[in-house]
Amino acid sequence: MIEHSGTLPRILIVDDEHLVIRMLNKGLKNRYDLQFASKGNDALASVMVDLPDLILLDVGLPDMDGYEVCRRLQENPLSRDIPVIFLTGHDEHQDILRGFQAGGRDYVLKYATVLELMARIDTHLELHRQKVALKDALEQNRMQHEKMSSLGLLMAGVAHEINTPMGYVSANLEILARYFDQLVGGEKIRQGEGESKHPTGDSGRMEYLAADVVDLINESLEGVRRVIKITRELKNFSRMDAPELKPVILSDCLESALVICSNELKCVATIRKEYEPLPEVPCHPGQLSQVFLNLLLNAGQALEPMGEIVLRSWSDDAFVYASVSDTGPGIPRELQERIFEPFYTTKERGKGTGLGLSISHDIIAKHHGELLVTSTPELGTTFTVKLSRG
Ligand SMILES: Nc1ncnc2c1ncn2[C@@H]1O[C@H](COP(=O)(O)OP(=O)(O)O)[C@@H](O)[C@H]1O
Ligand SMILES: [Mg+2]
Repeated sequence: MIEHSGTLPRILIVDDEHLVIRMLNKGLKNRYDLQFASKGNDALASVMVDLPDLILLDVGLPDMDGYEVCRRLQENPLSRDIPVIFLTGHDEHQDILRGFQAGGRDYVLKYATVLELMARIDTHLELHRQKVALKDALEQNRMQHEKMSSLGLLMAGVAHEINTPMGYVSANLEILARYFDQLVGGEKIRQGEGESKHPTGDSGRMEYLAADVVDLINESLEGVRRVIKITRELKNFSRMDAPELKPVILSDCLESALVICSNELKCVATIRKEYEPLPEVPCHPGQLSQVFLNLLLNAGQALEPMGEIVLRSWSDDAFVYASVSDTGPGIPRELQERIFEPFYTTKERGKGTGLGLSISHDIIAKHHGELLVTSTPELGTTFTVKLSRG
């Protein structure tokens, strides 16, 4: 009976010779979580049930040779990366090139010492671990890159968004200061001349000043509120990677994204909203805003010189939906699959990274949802985010 421990590396040994199996079991069982298969088909089935960390594979099996097993493992994206070490007899040794061609990483003689076998296994486990770590780091990097490039694109817009209200808030404060000066100055003159406090000649001017002061204050408050809103949305974006799920109304994420890029869009699109009320769903709001930001920017870039963007939200018994539609040129049918590939872009350098939709697709998949596209040439494109309600 083989001991199993959750923390030991899992190794699948595929061999039909009892002696080899007994020898490997005895030598390796304390260091690895071992599983056995004696036929190629059994090995392929076992891999699909439970992915091992490494496979020791005999060349001569009863139903198919080890090279064929290796080729089939290579064909399946799930098993492609599992390191395979061929177990060869002396007579098969000449043939080992075939093993490498089939995707094997290494080979070892069947009757090699246990110490040699362990050294090879540990080397390949470590190589594999490093490969996975590198892949994760690259994935993180890819997301960061897209986030930075879309944010970089937006920074000018955001600066403008903040600058405009701040410009008139400061102009208004200057006028208010002048009014105040005039009021205080007028008061002093009147007091010096011994006049009554509210001479009739001045009352029209006073009324005008009072009304304008109220307007100036209201306009300034509105500007300050806009700045607060945009900085709050920017803060949401910087919390993009928060690990916890939050109950969120999907259309709010769309609105957050819209605040960030409204300056980008206002020169190319009129925006119409058809929101139906939505229930909250658990999600990472920052990540979803990144998805919507990318959909909105794509829609805007498809529209030049001018068009319409329609934002919708609705729900049914099982799902909530939010969509971004544009009246752009559409995406030809044969390209509708390709647009989700990393680095696929039809935009000039500096404008497109080709990462937006692939990252958006990944984010929605991690939320167990779907990112759907429908597009009609000449009429436009709709991207829909569909998330489960529960
Ligand atoms: N709304 C749209 N209308 C037309 N084409 C689009 C639209 N959205 C995306 N695409 C196509 O999909 C490609 C990939 O999009 P994306 O992954 O966001 O990368 P990028 O925007 O950097 O090119 C775009 O280059 C474009 O050809
Ligand atoms: Mg894009």
